[in-house]
Amino acid sequence: MATGQQIVADLRREHQPVLVEPLLDLLKLEPGQVVLDGTVGLGGHAAVFAPRIMPGGRYIGLDLDEELLAEARQRLSGLVGHGLDLFKANYAEYPEVLAALGLQRVDVLFLDLGVNSAQLADPARGFSFESEGPLDMRYDRTQADKALDLVNAASEDQMADLFYEFGQEPLSRKIARRICQVRHSGRITTTRVLASAVESAYAAAGKGPSRRSPATRVFQALRIAVNHELENLQRFLDLAPTHLAPGGKLAVISFHSLEDGIVKRWLRGQDDMEEITRRPVVADPAERHSNPRSRSAKLRVARRMEV
Ligand SMILES: C[S@@+](CC[C@H](N)C(=O)[O-])C[C@H]1O[C@@H](n2cnc3c(N)ncnc32)[C@H](O)[C@@H]1O
Repeated sequence: MATGQQIVADLRREHQPVLVEPLLDLLKLEPGQVVLDGTVGLGGHAAVFAPRIMPGGRYIGLDLDEELLAEARQRLSGLVGHGLDLFKANYAEYPEVLAALGLQRVDVLFLDLGVNSAQLADPARGFSFESEGPLDMRYDRTQADKALDLVNAASEDQMADLFYEFGQEPLSRKIARRICQVRHSGRITTTRVLASAVESAYAAAGKGPSRRSPATRVFQALRIAVNHELENLQRFLDLAPTHLAPGGKLAVISFHSLEDGIVKRWLRGQDDMEEITRRPVVADPAERHSNPRSRSAKLRVARRMEV
């Protein structure tokens, strides 16, 4: 039988970057360009994009997850130090990395948001309600606060608001109440205990099983809150016009309507950015079939107008 470690290793091997072809069509990468990939992960996009900007280009990959970065360094070993550099950094703080490299402007700013399939597959990271693990959910394992700190410290109202706002969870109040009841008998520290509390709130409300586990939305909400995902995205976008060269492009792949809504609203408010994807680009049927993660992916690309 496959061990947990083997399963994680297989999933890492299987990791496929999403929407690669549409990105190549829209970005039209050229030798000599500078690309900032704020979510380099296992380097799936980087492996395709970086060779296209060589010779003469610079590919700067950031991620908060040291483990993934170490694996990306191995996978991209032929490119590391030859135009490609990887750093542990928050993408919302990318100007500091650019400054340290003596760069002011980039030709492409790219984000592929959300959780990596390797992080999801590793029970020790606590991102998935399907396997038992510590309630962690941090991308950056040096960060102090984990999901369990939030779940055990928040008031019932705070939790209900969080599940509603970041999970669009219709039973947010009932779930928050149930979690508080479970907390009376001790701290909630694992994924399955939390998922069972959510499931029992659904059962008590007379809601039968649906295609998606009710824990999906609660886990999404906690992950967003623990990692400050929406604030980071907003900060990254607000910095973009200052750091994109004229004619440079911003590309963001989002995985739920909260993220896509932020990108869409931000683009509408920009006078010097022109969206070149009139509607968000989604995966074609072949990609949806071969890579389930692509099914909820939405890509928007915008160009900074020449002055
Ligand atoms: C969907 S994965 C990216 C996959 C990557 N494009 C590839 O092809 O391998 C998203 C990555 O973003 C990272 N991440 C999330 N928030 C971040 C942040 N604020 N700054 C830097 N990296 C972040 C996660 O650790 C994760 O590895």
